[in-house]
Amino acid sequence: MSAAPRTLLVTGATGRLGEATVRCLAERGDRLLLTGRDGGRLAELAAAFGGRGTVRTLSADTAEPDGAQYAAAEAVREFGHLDGLVHLVGGFAVGPVMLTDVSSYEDLLKSNFLSAVVATQAVLPHLRDGGRLVYFGTPLADEPLAAMSSYAASKAALTAWVRSLAHEVKNRGIHANLISLTLVETPEMRKEMPHVDPGLTVEAELVGRAVRFLTGAESDGMYGSVMPVVGRFGFSSALAGGPPPGAGRPAR
Ligand SMILES: NC(=O)c1ccc[n+]([C@@H]2O[C@H](COP(=O)([O-])OP(=O)(O)OC[C@H]3O[C@@H](n4cnc5c(N)ncnc54)[C@H](OP(=O)(O)O)[C@@H]3O)[C@@H](O)[C@H]2O)c1
Repeated sequence: MSAAPRTLLVTGATGRLGEATVRCLAERGDRLLLTGRDGGRLAELAAAFGGRGTVRTLSADTAEPDGAQYAAAEAVREFGHLDGLVHLVGGFAVGPVMLTDVSSYEDLLKSNFLSAVVATQAVLPHLRDGGRLVYFGTPLADEPLAAMSSYAASKAALTAWVRSLAHEVKNRGIHANLISLTLVETPEMRKEMPHVDPGLTVEAELVGRAVRFLTGAESDGMYGSVMPVVGRFGFSSALAGGPPPGAGRPAR
């Protein structure tokens, strides 16, 4: 079984899942260009991983075409070639439809969907046979709950797009797959939602391992997969807030 190091662009590495993902990839010896807009967080990542000589950071807004093209070109300049993209850029919001401004829908469409289009368009010309594209979605794309419409719709767009893209690029030997996540255990999440049963969250390291799998030869057979990494999470009616009064009784 091959565990050959890969050369990857990791966009949105400054977010919650960045560190665990980078650690898993760095353990394989990958050469990584980490991007984000948060210079302070990039400096922390550089301090944590940069000493190995294979991890570099770059301040860039990869949700914009110029920033994405710059990042892809820098990765190739730094490492000589590029094997793939791990696209961690994303956003989240909750709110009932009637209380959600359309600008919030636009923001999530940009962070969750259009950013993937832009980053992929920048990376694809550099990829060769065996190239890898990894994105992050949610089961809410298929099972949307109340007050999650902007998030669910933006991730549903991403998921459909990844599956279509996978058909386009598979004959070039390029693999586009998506990891479907519920709640990942991170310090930020624990602070925001201290009440959540830790048995229902998934460790960030397990997400990193899934990324390593989808960027390695072990996933050579996977094109257009939606791979759930949700731990023991399960949807329940309690999460949705319970049925409305009278639900389930025959109409008179
Ligand atoms: N964490 C979870 O529990 C969970 C669950 C389901 C799905 N996911 C998905 O998994 C991926 C990674 O999750 P995460 O928790 O690490 O995400 P995150 O912390 O919310 O965000 C990741 C990065 O996205 C970048 N970003 C957001 N909006 C942007 C925009 N408009 N333009 C450019 N960059 C933008 C931010 O980078 P800057 O530093 O540049 O601001 C941020 O660091 C995301 O797609 C997320 O939706 C996560």
